[in-house]
Amino acid sequence: MSRWVKLQREVRLSLGVDPTRTATGNSFAGSPRGDGLGPVVTLKVEVAGPIGPATGMLINIRQIDELVRQAVVSDFAYAADIAVPLMLKQMWARMKAQLAPVTLTGLEISSSPWLQYRLTDGDTRMIELTERFEFSAAHRLHSKDLTDAENKATFGKCNNPHGHGHNYELEVTLSGPTDAGGELISLQRLHDIVNQRVIDRMDHKHLNIEVAEFGQLNPTVENIAAVIFKSLEDAFPPPVRLQRIRLWETPKTSCTVEASEPVEKELVK
Ligand code: NI
Repeated sequence: MSRWVKLQREVRLSLGVDPTRTATGNSFAGSPRGDGLGPVVTLKVEVAGPIGPATGMLINIRQIDELVRQAVVSDFAYAADIAVPLMLKQMWARMKAQLAPVTLTGLEISSSPWLQYRLTDGDTRMIELTERFEFSAAHRLHSKDLTDAENKATFGKCNNPHGHGHNYELEVTLSGPTDAGGELISLQRLHDIVNQRVIDRMDHKHLNIEVAEFGQLNPTVENIAAVIFKSLEDAFPPPVRLQRIRLWETPKTSCTVEASEPVEKELVK
């Protein structure tokens, strides 16, 4: 009995390029590569199945690369007006059939470095949309439940009475069914909500002093993430909902807050 595994493969390519031209000298830059200005997309494909006894592989990754290029470059390169989630679903249907008996378990497309759409089940209309935002803020880590000595021992430099700053990065992930136009929500609406409820209130502020929630609450990355989740969780019109937020305080430290209950999957009618 072969071991069942999941395999992830990232495929990078430039749109609007002759799909037959696949040779490139830089594998990191993707294939086909763009010579001039043009959209670069990244596809993440996740498949599951048993390890083949003869090859030691679940699937040859070259086969995944070819399927993605064929689907994206040939069919969608010039279809700039198609909604990205819709394109992802069409790709899912085609790739699922072509990958069988290997099972497709995830398909994610990055239309820019800060915007991702993800499907984990192409048979439903459910999709996840993640956009990345940034803001800068100052804070002081200090707990009113600890003595000054304990605060200093616990938080070290972060207990500096005058505060210190971070460039925070915030990932907001929504989940829900796509609408008639193939979208989850308009990006403008998402921007307006996140700006109004989070960025405008926190950007270039001293959190302890200027943001009401942190008057008593220690603004650790965990507490800031929890406050941001609470600020956003009722902001989106059902059936769209806030699935999770991830707040990066530094490139090495992040905190994720996830909606507690999984979304009930809605079958295509
Ligand atoms: Ni800090």
